[in-house]
Amino acid sequence: MKIIENRKDLLEEVKILKVKGNSIGFVPTMGALHDGHLSLIHYANKDNDITVVSIFVNPTQFNDQNDYAKYPRITEDDTEKLKKVKCDILFTPSEKEMYPAEDKREFDFGKLDKVMEGAHRPGHFRGVALIVSKLFEIVNPDKAYFGEKDFQQVAIIRHFTKRLKFNIEIISCPIIRESDGLAMSSRNMLLSQEQRANVSLISNTLFDAREKAKSMTVQETKDWVIRIINENPFLDVEYFEIVDDTSLDPINNWNQKAGKVGCIAVHVGTIRLIDNIRFYS
Ligand code: PAF
Repeated sequence: MKIIENRKDLLEEVKILKVKGNSIGFVPTMGALHDGHLSLIHYANKDNDITVVSIFVNPTQFNDQNDYAKYPRITEDDTEKLKKVKCDILFTPSEKEMYPAEDKREFDFGKLDKVMEGAHRPGHFRGVALIVSKLFEIVNPDKAYFGEKDFQQVAIIRHFTKRLKFNIEIISCPIIRESDGLAMSSRNMLLSQEQRANVSLISNTLFDAREKAKSMTVQETKDWVIRIINENPFLDVEYFEIVDDTSLDPINNWNQKAGKVGCIAVHVGTIRLIDNIRFYS
């Protein structure tokens, strides 16, 4: 595994690999790697000759400076994990390398960023678009891999990839869960033992909501999920929305033809977790 810190070196390396006819799969991350990330790397390996992974805790996507400060940074452990899977290139740039000057670009995501994460984390998706577009320019991958846990992020990345005319296929990969159902997330390692014992209620309530949806309206299902989770003293629901899986418009009626996804954000003390589930009714 080659470890590269400098964007020029990576540009050069990728150019040579592409001239030789290699396809490139790219897995951008903020580190604190877990099995969810490793599954993205597995998909990238299956589809491509070369897999590039980046680790960069991107300051511009944190609307809360506290969240940025406490985001886990364990690059040495991550590097050891990556050595055990097939990762050909690890890109670990510094902040100066990615933002040598203030990047003032604005993006138009249509309606996609007006709901859920976009509504509750002002500026978050602009930060994601800033960094992902910079990384795409450097890595120039054929395919890029993202986890479906960040459901809205994937929709927004698809949108700007098309708008900015990147010739990159965006692949979304299934959520990987712990044995008790909790969606894997780098933030899970920040949970206390007590919090960790309680957070599986989030995914378990989402699973149960699928059953409830068979006899409840959309609004009743939403109210039920929020009530059950909020009854737990460790958990505080920020939002739970059931949306069209493409437009992210709210679903009002189970008979609507669109694919339906229930997306949730929950505060657990100072930690914020997200998850989502498909409804098939
Ligand atoms: O999903 C993440 O980890 C981040 O938002 C990403 C896509 C690596 C951009 O910083």
